[in-house]
Amino acid sequence: MTQRLVVIGAGGFGREVLDVIEAINSCAATPEFEPIGVLDDGTPEAAVLGPYGVQHLGPVSLLGDLPHDVGYVIGIGSPGVRQALDQKGLDLGRVSPVLVHPSAAIGRHAVELGPGTIVCSHVSITNNIRLGRHVHVNLNATIGHDAVLDDYVTLSPLVAISGNVHAETGVFFGTGANVNPGLTIGRGAVVGTGAAVIKDVPAGLTVVGVPAKPRA
Ligand SMILES: CC(C)(COP(=O)(O)OP(=O)(O)OC[C@H]1O[C@@H](n2cnc3c(N)ncnc32)[C@H](O)[C@@H]1OP(=O)(O)O)[C@@H](O)C(=O)NCCC(=O)NCCS
Repeated sequence: MTQRLVVIGAGGFGREVLDVIEAINSCAATPEFEPIGVLDDGTPEAAVLGPYGVQHLGPVSLLGDLPHDVGYVIGIGSPGVRQALDQKGLDLGRVSPVLVHPSAAIGRHAVELGPGTIVCSHVSITNNIRLGRHVHVNLNATIGHDAVLDDYVTLSPLVAISGNVHAETGVFFGTGANVNPGLTIGRGAVVGTGAAVIKDVPAGLTVVGVPAKPRA
């Protein structure tokens, strides 16, 4: 059955989420998802959304007025914003489908993807891996064996998470960040673009550079 949904957030990543939905549907005999529109508190340009055949329905508060079968995914990279929006959706009892681009390589053994998780094109996820609610795995990211990414973690493009890494709730990884095996990245930490993380990162800290150190 086709799952109707809205994409919350109509910025650049919101459109990339629509790309993922189009790619999934193009591989299915009948569409798996029907995006009925986008919700955004701003005013996205109709011309940018037009090619996707979706419209801006209105602000996020409209979610509660939509028919009950309409689920939601969140096309916003900020973990904190995503967490707050997901709480609204949960309070309304809405479902959050998992979106996996058909070009992603997902291992067959013990891979769990939480509700609302979005896996973009050319991602690799191997085995015994757990991703929480609304985790974003952006273009070409890799996740090694036995990794755990808690709720609302964001992997920007080309991030490499080694085996046995644990990223706690709401960690943000900038583009091209790398993490050595077995490390824990504490709740709400930020790992800058291109960083090489070689030791545990305390909760809430921003680290940058090679090797990664607290930002100046
Ligand atoms: C880490 C990050 C969040 C810091 O942002 P910020 O708090 O605004 O930091 P600033 O730009 O004010 O920089 C503060 C200092 O850290 C340094 N710095 C910032 N990001 C850095 C990075 N990724 N690598 C090395 N140094 C960095 C700056 O050069 C500056 O140093 P200085 O004071 O000696 O000049 C940001 O730079 C970053 O990497 N964001 C990720 C973006 C991304 O990948 N988005 C995904 C798009 S899909």
